This record gives sequence, C-alpha cells and structure tokens, in this order.
Amino acid sequence: LNNPTEIDYEAFKRNILRKSGIDLNLYRQEQMYRRLKGLVERAHLQSFAAYFRLIEKDPKEWTNFLDRMTINVSELFRNPEKWEQLRDAFLGPWVKQGRKLRIWSAGCSIGAEPYSLAMILDDLCPGGRHYLLATDIDEKILEQAREGVYTQEAIKHVPAHYRQKYLRESGGRYEVLPPLRLAVTFRKHNLLGDPFETNWDLIVCRNVVIYFADEAKKRLYTRLREALVPGGILFVGGTERIQYYRELGFDIPLPFFYQRVD
Ligand SMILES: C[S@@+](CC[C@H](N)C(=O)[O-])C[C@H]1O[C@@H](n2cnc3c(N)ncnc32)[C@H](O)[C@@H]1O
Repeated sequence: LNNPTEIDYEAFKRNILRKSGIDLNLYRQEQMYRRLKGLVERAHLQSFAAYFRLIEKDPKEWTNFLDRMTINVSELFRNPEKWEQLRDAFLGPWVKQGRKLRIWSAGCSIGAEPYSLAMILDDLCPGGRHYLLATDIDEKILEQAREGVYTQEAIKHVPAHYRQKYLRESGGRYEVLPPLRLAVTFRKHNLLGDPFETNWDLIVCRNVVIYFADEAKKRLYTRLREALVPGGILFVGGTERIQYYRELGFDIPLPFFYQRVD
C-alpha cells in the first residue's frame, strides 16, 4: 500500500466484509473500484472512510450501495432459444420419468428466472411437486422478486400460451399469478461466502459471475459442480463459458449447459 487512497479503500473493503460478509476482493478489482468511487463522489464525500460512516448509519444508503455493486438487470426467458432447449433436452424428459426435481436459481435478481422455470414445470406437469429455490445477495431485489410484477419489456420473451396461463395484466404491468409465486422459495444467499445446499438436478446461474475475479469464478464453478447430483446440469448465461470445464468435471451436452460427469 503506497498511497492514502489505497489505504482508505483497503480499510473500506475490510469494513464491508465485517458488516455484510461480502468480500469485495473476490470481484474484478478495477471495475469494482471505479463503481464504488463513483458512489463516494455522488455522495459528495472525500474518502471511502466517510462513505462507510454514511452507509453504516443510513439504511437507505446501504441499500443504495448494494444496488450499485450488484447489477440487477433481468427478464423472463432471457435468451428464449436456450430456454426451449432447457425444456426439450432436460426438463421435459426428466418430468416424463416422474422425477421430483430440485432446482436452484442462483443470483435470481427480480425473480424472472425462477418464474420462467416455474412456468415450464407447471406447463409440463401441472401440480408437480418440485423444489424451486431462488437466491440472491440483495435482499431488496428479493422483495421485488416475491411480488412478481413486471414491465412489458421484462416479459417480452414469455411464450404466448404461458403469458395467458400465468400472467395477469393490470395497468400495463404483468403480475405472476399467486400459485406460481408460491412454487418458488426465495432466500438471501451469498455465492461467494455462504454454504451451498446440495443434490440439485439443475442449477441456473446466469449473468452473475461477470464481475467476479477469475479465481473466485473457478472456485464457484467447482462448488456448483459439487452441489449437483451426478448427471445434473449447470445452465449458464448466453455470454459465459466455463474455462477448463473438463478439469472441473463437466461435459457439454449443449452449448451453455454443463453436465456433471459421474
Ligand atoms: C444481472 S443479474 C442476473 C439475473 C438473472 N440470473 C438473469 O440472468 O437474468 C445478477 C444478480 O447477481 C446477484 N449477485 C451478485 N453477486 C452475488 C453474490 N456474491 N451472491 C449472490 N448473488 C449475487 C446480483 O444481486 C444480481 O441480482
């Protein structure tokens, strides 16, 4: 450490870790630093130390901090053709075999992803008793997710017959119907800190790791693999590739779908 700004930022990272369990060192350093520095400036403060005092005493500012360090952009059926593949190659056949599935949407943001899963599953087999867990580090976004109300933009890729069956329009907003909402369990969880539940048939972790440092990403994929049942699938984002996937114990039955071998 050779300058006051660096010392200030290092102390800030330690404070955040102590307060929330969020280890900012596990994110891409330059991007994270730039984003957070922007927050300090916007608050008209001179240092990270002053900014930490602010978010300590004002819950609104804390929420604002979380909002900015996580990026919550999402929509239902993001990359629709991949969702079709998910249904046809995996979920459909599994449901046909009568399996009760355990599915985890990790980094679920506004809930668009778990509700997309819930729609597919209910449509394949109404009333099937699967377990659908959806987690995110951001508590505020989870509240929004539980409400399940979306803009026209967020639902534009929902297939028409799902739209009719599972969404209700009111004043230009689209609400996920209550039975579907009840099919999803939402919970706060930090992928870079908390223990994982195991025995998942499917883990959906898309557009979450973009800001994770390479080491953190590799460790995460290793842990996600361990959390799958043998043959289980990890579904990643449309711009994401797992490096050294073979070494980590994955196969690729289809692009963006990683299968746990053995
Ligand atoms: C861009 S959204 C992706 C939402 C959805 N998976 C999709 O693909 O549309 C990224 C989400 O990851 C969450 N996130 C970021 N870091 C996380 C962490 N360490 N643990 C859990 N969730 C995290 C953010 O809060 C945000 O809601």
